[in-house]
Amino acid sequence: MNSLRLIATALCCLTVLFGGLTFSSDAQLDPNFYSQTCPQLQAIVSQVLSKVAKNDPRMPASLIRLHFHDCFVQGCDASVLLNKTSTIVTEQEAFPNIKSLRGLDVINQIKTAVESACPNKVSCADILTLSAGISSVLTGGTGWLVPLGRRDSLTANQTLANQNLPGPSFSLTELKSAFADQGLTTLDLVSLSGAHSFGRSRCFLFSDRLFNFNNTGKPDPTLDPTYLKVLQKQCPQNGAGDNRVNFDPTTPDILDKNYYNNLQVKKGLLQSDQELFSTPGADTIGIVNNFANNQNAFFQNFATSMIKMGNIGVLTGKKGEIRKQCNFVNTKKKSSELDITAVTSTESFEGGVVSSM
Ligand code: HEM
Repeated sequence: MNSLRLIATALCCLTVLFGGLTFSSDAQLDPNFYSQTCPQLQAIVSQVLSKVAKNDPRMPASLIRLHFHDCFVQGCDASVLLNKTSTIVTEQEAFPNIKSLRGLDVINQIKTAVESACPNKVSCADILTLSAGISSVLTGGTGWLVPLGRRDSLTANQTLANQNLPGPSFSLTELKSAFADQGLTTLDLVSLSGAHSFGRSRCFLFSDRLFNFNNTGKPDPTLDPTYLKVLQKQCPQNGAGDNRVNFDPTTPDILDKNYYNNLQVKKGLLQSDQELFSTPGADTIGIVNNFANNQNAFFQNFATSMIKMGNIGVLTGKKGEIRKQCNFVNTKKKSSELDITAVTSTESFEGGVVSSM
């Protein structure tokens, strides 16, 4: 009897020990990460975003892109949110981000609301990731449980932003390689490109396709002639390269499978979009056809790939920090400045100005 009890106690301790070990040494994220420390988190993010999206229906697209541009550069660590300072070479001034990043002020707005409900608990990286997930739901897309528990970086990397983010004239081989560098597959590439079913692009990013593709003096042959005329009107040669055009001419602010239907009829906006369908013999063609026929298949794969992208290079546990302001790393006070009566916190903001772009 006694020995049985001993075994039972030992087993019980082992479970606790191994359970505890798995929990503490495992860098896995968890959708319930804030269930004790900030149970209102999801409600706060949803509330702010619904309000913002009413006045600015493009904002959900902009936030999904912001999350993507964060994750491809040293992981989903909110490095893209860091403003230029004496110690930060900001990613916001990398070529793919210049005059192109929207949503920084919305993330700050959400951060302020979250801080007043649960101070010092929720990272900016999680706020950005959750905002991307909720943006999908708000625009007719699918929802998923967003794994949480990321921490914020202490650094940014502009060089890496220029290097890692794929360009609009990339070939399929180059696109695959940029995604493979992040541990993402061809299926992830096709699924995540579906985010180009909403939002806008500036003309200069694809205007080579309209007039003088690859120095042929002719338009891109993989561009539908009627669509070509529409785009030439919206983006006249030697005209304003900063004009913005909808990615999806039919449902410009809705996340749906139309992107893939557009590719089937040569109405992809960027070369990098059309490559997925018009590269002869490519293994991406079948995936495009499948998603074009089946919105559920697209939604399921989009959710899976967004979660996968959201796991890239995350900081967990004691790595990084929980930023107080999303645009600045926290600064530690020098020991000489420490007030011995104020023992609760030794951190303060760097700067104090939150940018709005
Ligand atoms: C596959 C390689 C990709 C390339 C080459 C690419 C390129 C671009 C370009 C050039 C723009 C227009 C930017 C501007 O006008 O300044 C854009 C916009 C956008 N991208 Fe991508 N992108 C890619 C993948 C992705 C992924 C993986 C996502 C998200 C999961 C995404 C989401 C978006 C969204 C939503 C917009 C519109 C943003 C807005 O209207 O504010 N893109 N992309």
